[in-house]
Amino acid sequence: MNVDNMEKPKFYITTAIAYTSQVPHIGNTYEAILADCIARWKRLAGYDVYLLTGTDEHGIKIQKQAEAAGITPQEHVDRISGELRRIWDRCGVSYDGFIRTTDPAHVETVQKIFRRLYDQGDVYLSEYVGNYCTPCESFYTDAQLVDGKCPDCGRPVEKASEKAYFFRLSKYADRLLALFEENTDFVQPPERRNEMINNFIKPGLKDFCISRSSVKWGVPVDFDPENVVYVWVDALINYISALGYSVDRTGPLYDKYWPADVHIIGKDIIRFHTIYWPALLMALDVPLPKKVFGHGWLLIGGEKMSKSKHNAVYADQLIDWFGADAVRYYCLSEMPFAADGVLTYEMLAEKYNSDLANILGNLVNRTVAMTKKYFGGTVPAPGEYVGPDRELIAACSAAAADFAAAMDSYHVADASAAVLALLRRANKYIDETAPWVLAKSEEGRARLATVLYALLESIRFAAVLFTPFMPETCGKIFAELGTEAGDYASLAAFGGLVPGGTVGEPVPLFARLDTEAVLKGIEEENARALQPEVPEFQPEITIDDFAGIDLRAAKVLACEPVKKSDKLLRLELDVGREKRQVVSGIAKWYKPEDLTGKTVVLVANLKPARLRGVESQGMILAADNAEDDVRVVFLPDDVRPGSRLR
Ligand code: MSP
Repeated sequence: MNVDNMEKPKFYITTAIAYTSQVPHIGNTYEAILADCIARWKRLAGYDVYLLTGTDEHGIKIQKQAEAAGITPQEHVDRISGELRRIWDRCGVSYDGFIRTTDPAHVETVQKIFRRLYDQGDVYLSEYVGNYCTPCESFYTDAQLVDGKCPDCGRPVEKASEKAYFFRLSKYADRLLALFEENTDFVQPPERRNEMINNFIKPGLKDFCISRSSVKWGVPVDFDPENVVYVWVDALINYISALGYSVDRTGPLYDKYWPADVHIIGKDIIRFHTIYWPALLMALDVPLPKKVFGHGWLLIGGEKMSKSKHNAVYADQLIDWFGADAVRYYCLSEMPFAADGVLTYEMLAEKYNSDLANILGNLVNRTVAMTKKYFGGTVPAPGEYVGPDRELIAACSAAAADFAAAMDSYHVADASAAVLALLRRANKYIDETAPWVLAKSEEGRARLATVLYALLESIRFAAVLFTPFMPETCGKIFAELGTEAGDYASLAAFGGLVPGGTVGEPVPLFARLDTEAVLKGIEEENARALQPEVPEFQPEITIDDFAGIDLRAAKVLACEPVKKSDKLLRLELDVGREKRQVVSGIAKWYKPEDLTGKTVVLVANLKPARLRGVESQGMILAADNAEDDVRVVFLPDDVRPGSRLR
């Protein structure tokens, strides 16, 4: 049978869908790169692959962030989801589907699943008891509290209860245990499996709450819309809703690709994917995913990334300095299979120079340049292979075999090491065979043809294997070799590169970096980024527009806090012609005695407003000095109250 007509085996791979509370950092991005590398590998190996990624867009955090920014939650998630997609594209993530949990089709599926589970008795109404933080309008479990206080705002919490829907997880405990025991490699790496069995399944699975009435931004339970579906249940369903599953109907993508061959997720969310998710699918009578791979964390210099530590690193910056392929290569080759991995700018720069500029770039560059010099750019036909050639050929087939075995067991860094070993061997082969010496004699030239062919073909092997890691670079290498991009089957035998072809122009693939200069540049850039952003200028106005604003010097006669407010101060001002009372939201930065006797700037013709019941007859000027730092504008003491500022 013709291979092209044979039905390809399918492979469905997913990433976790990242929260849209913040723009994704390099840790979230690494996961997409990892899943992309595996997806590209499977395509290379002849599979019909579907890679799904997307964004998790509901929940109280997003609701609050949008409120604080004065935009709607939908506007907020549109922005972050768009940014995530742009970053994934920039990293070369070749997703086939991109799901957003605010997609109407997904929302409808979540509602239908919830109703089905309720109708069949797997979901029931009960009482949720937890620690409630009133200002945050959120419940927290005991484990989530920090020193017994709200983990978000640090204020005291109180025990409270609300009516809520529960999922009968306990009913599935035996089947879940059987899943872990019978399908021993369901969870990867293996140590995570024991953690799940011993810490969660064996101590006894409790039914869990799958609705919230305190959250507004979520998928409403359609038959009880005061409640929204718990964000984790909403999010997990993406893996099937994206394929068109919707309780009473499926669809061609679902029929073809489900069950997932692997869910790629971080180690922190394994419980949701290996206990809650399978139990929900059991209840729906939907087949279970075949595998869940919980990768380790990417740490910055050994620490977890956090906004408050100002140590979050973003793909955009790394790509600006090093290029997308180098960033991909670093993450994929540095992250161990099970443990956490570390990223520092220094390590990235060093790996770039050692592996990519010296080992890969140099080999390709030297080989193509020699082919030009000695054979006018034509791929020579090899003669008989002898000692070192045979060793190089053996290294090629070993690399191909080791690579496939490592990739299929998700040991991605080991797969990369297999290619690097081949590249090192090829560089050594140049030293062993000394082509420049062979070129000097007539009898040496026949041997030189074999040597250069062997090198060009080894580079082709490396480029095929590295395609899932560095797709753009490998595309350039194929162009330099003057050949089409090859698939894994093209590595079945040494000799795929056709003699007589023409090599392309040698281009430096990875120009060596001046590490010190790069690190200094990054340091300066990071220091600048810590400076608060200077806002855009307002649209132009005319001198007449400005003249309409009546700014006056005003002496503070008295000042006191506004009752029942920790933000406001009431100021009595002498404005020359008359006295004015102004309420100003500066109590956080100024005590009354800091202001009394001082001369400030009053916007004197501003329409009066009431703040906490106190009338404010104008406004005093202050500068937004930094995030959460305000400075009042003071005039010299001898400026006469009531004088105009122009
Ligand atoms: N929204 C949930 C996932 C729902 S999946 C049905 C979530 N989002 S997240 O934005 O917090 O994380 C997205 C993915 O990035 C998760 O798999 C998480 O483990 C992973 N990572 C978050 N920080 C990471 C690192 N520092 N390093 C590697 N992966 C990291 O969880």
